[in-house]
Amino acid sequence: MRVPFSYLSRQFADVDAYLEAIREVVVRGDFTLGAAVAEFEQCFAALCQVPYAIGVNSGTDALFLSLKALDIGPGDEVITVPNTFIATVGAIVMTGARPVFVDVNEQYTLDVNRLEGVLTPRTKAIVPVHLTGNPADMPAIMAFARRHGLYVVEDAAQAIFAAIDGQPVGGWGDAGCFSLHPLKNLNVWGDGGVIVTRSAELAERLRLLRNHGLVTRDEARCFGYNSRLDTIQAVVANRLLPQVPALTAQRIAHAQRLDAALAELAPLITIPPRRPNVRQVFHTYVVQAAQRDRLLAYLRQQGIEAKVHYPIPLHLQAAAAHLGYRRGDFPVCEAQCQRIITLPVHQHLSAAELEYMVHHVHRFYRRHATAQCA
Ligand SMILES: Cc1ncc(COP(=O)(O)O)c(C=O)c1O
Repeated sequence: MRVPFSYLSRQFADVDAYLEAIREVVVRGDFTLGAAVAEFEQCFAALCQVPYAIGVNSGTDALFLSLKALDIGPGDEVITVPNTFIATVGAIVMTGARPVFVDVNEQYTLDVNRLEGVLTPRTKAIVPVHLTGNPADMPAIMAFARRHGLYVVEDAAQAIFAAIDGQPVGGWGDAGCFSLHPLKNLNVWGDGGVIVTRSAELAERLRLLRNHGLVTRDEARCFGYNSRLDTIQAVVANRLLPQVPALTAQRIAHAQRLDAALAELAPLITIPPRRPNVRQVFHTYVVQAAQRDRLLAYLRQQGIEAKVHYPIPLHLQAAAAHLGYRRGDFPVCEAQCQRIITLPVHQHLSAAELEYMVHHVHRFYRRHATAQCA
């Protein structure tokens, strides 16, 4: 059996329905910030329970433009975590600001208790990352940010429809940034991103920044970027958006099955504690595993496309050398990097595929235990 990580061929099996909707855009010539973009923005804002959503070119641009719209730039410091996709930190660096890392907790998200220790007079914002689709502790982060007059830009690229106490992520901070990349839970046919906010002023500034600062076809209020959400991608997103609650429920059900089966293997496998007031949307299913590299190789031999998200923390990337961090600076994150493994959890997995994964993880440790005794 093969258990692939990517499920795009299954997801877009009904390709003709999408092509028909795209045909209509082509016939109307409605290519740039067309009706489909406006419809997507309205529906996405409703899903996130916020008044404004602004479609942009990618999740990376969503972060970059949000920081720019908040006037973050050279001389400023922005606090974030070292265990994220490169784009979180790239967006901060591209504004001219300096990324400042804090270690993470057992949930793989920003450890709020460490914020005080990295605060300086130059700190301007916090970018918490809802890694794996698991919300960072937003109530505590917002309380800290408000106490110290800091902006909060949520990196919710992996966390569409995740929520804390029923309130979706993205709407906790000043801005929330999502990715529509083909590997995300709500995925389009190329790049796409969206920013949500409760601030009318920020929404207006973001609309200007993503479209050359234009207020009309001929008048520019400020200089900006070309970072519009492509209309054809919005057509794809509009077909998928109503499916988000159902596909999320399916991912959660798969994660629950994996949790139950893998918890039996503790302490060889460590499942993070799940919080009852949090809707974790399992963009990825990550656990810590003894003998991680051997387990990874074994699962791949069995046709199970396990992965590691992410093997090299940001502070140890060559790109971050100028920041002056060293190995040992973020011990929790670094220890997790040695042990984390990602198993497929997507909504198109069959029951047989799930059981096949469970069977092989158990089999690996049974064999390993026997080998150790021998
Ligand atoms: C945590 C995180 N932040 C930012 C991004 C960037 O999104 P995009 O690829 O749409 O630019 C991604 C995904 O790629 C991500 O996983």
